[in-house]
Amino acid sequence: MRAAELFRAQFGGEPDGVWLAPGRANLMGEHTDYNDGYVLPFALGQAVTAAAAARPGRQLTVCSRQEPAAAVQIALDGLAPGQVTGWAAYPAGVAWALEAAGHPVPGACVAIDSDLPAGAGLSSSAALECATALALTELAQTELAQTELAGLTVPRRDLAAIARRAENEFVGVPTGIMDQSASLLGQAGHALLLDCLTLDTSQVPFDPAAAGASLLLINTRAKHDLVDGEYGQRRAECEEAARRLGISSLRSLTRPADVDQLADPVLRRRARHVVTDNQRVLDVVALLSTPLGTPADIYRDIGQLLTESHASLRDDFEISWPEADAGVEAALAAGAFGARMMGGGFGGSVLALVPATGGPVRDAVTAAFARRAWTAPEFLEAVPSEGARRLTLQFSLTATP
Ligand code: GLA
Repeated sequence: MRAAELFRAQFGGEPDGVWLAPGRANLMGEHTDYNDGYVLPFALGQAVTAAAAARPGRQLTVCSRQEPAAAVQIALDGLAPGQVTGWAAYPAGVAWALEAAGHPVPGACVAIDSDLPAGAGLSSSAALECATALALTELAQTELAQTELAGLTVPRRDLAAIARRAENEFVGVPTGIMDQSASLLGQAGHALLLDCLTLDTSQVPFDPAAAGASLLLINTRAKHDLVDGEYGQRRAECEEAARRLGISSLRSLTRPADVDQLADPVLRRRARHVVTDNQRVLDVVALLSTPLGTPADIYRDIGQLLTESHASLRDDFEISWPEADAGVEAALAAGAFGARMMGGGFGGSVLALVPATGGPVRDAVTAAFARRAWTAPEFLEAVPSEGARRLTLQFSLTATP
């Protein structure tokens, strides 16, 4: 296991454990999470792993195989937003948010590895937060074993909120709760229906391979960066639309016509995307939960909803980008059931639902990019996988790539 190897090389000795937290794909519901709406993400097979050990003292030391610079030292006492920048702000933010929520954080050494492409919109940052959160809370448990706090694990839902707080308040990115929830609560063979108003969840069986289909992630290689302001601007526009409508969040709207009361055409479009994407989440869940028809019929219907969602993200929410539009178009022309841009927007990946393993779709998208002299896209299969967990030694030996 490469995180454990890095740990040995960097810190000497064996880690106390190795924890893994996956990235996520999102089947449906984009920019709906911070509008108190519905999302339907799932955990990916690709993940961040953290090999960690508690150490005496109040120092957190983190290093990463993907960040060749020296290990970063973080003083836990007096830790506050703004003190740590760059990639280490994510693990530092998690330590800060855990302590702010009253959970003890031990001094520790943490070595990070990842097979999630960064900037591909697959939530590598949330995976880093969740792997750190799980490692630090479980290390703290070992430290507390002889005390009255023994056995008090932090519920996954609370961990998701803590990891999100780290991202919002320590790193400074105003994201919703979707990514951390998918990473911590995902189950193999299922998508996670999350109601972001009540935080209720349910597991929706979702196994494209069993139906002779697959989900292809097309990394368009246009880097996305949530800190660049557009994400926050969309969020502010949604809040302004809700304010003008006199409702606490856009979740309260249930019919597309509800947005007609908004005089401002931009806010009207933003709100229409949120209302229609919320409905599409419920429509996909209905298709998966009470399958009427053959798997091919159901996947065609889900594909149609994906493609409608793309149009809404492109035309109403205006967060698509040229490589995503070209990727969707080429995928559909080559026989995909449906496709859409995924995640925060302005870069990252396209999600395409394809028959079999999507060979013709890969070829067509590659050719479409080559015609435009764009960097070749990268393809990953998105398989709904198990959420964050501690790896056993036996698993870690067999999991070595
Ligand atoms: C990013 C954010 C999520 C969500 C999506 C858009 O991934 O981290 O909270 O808002 O964008 O659906």
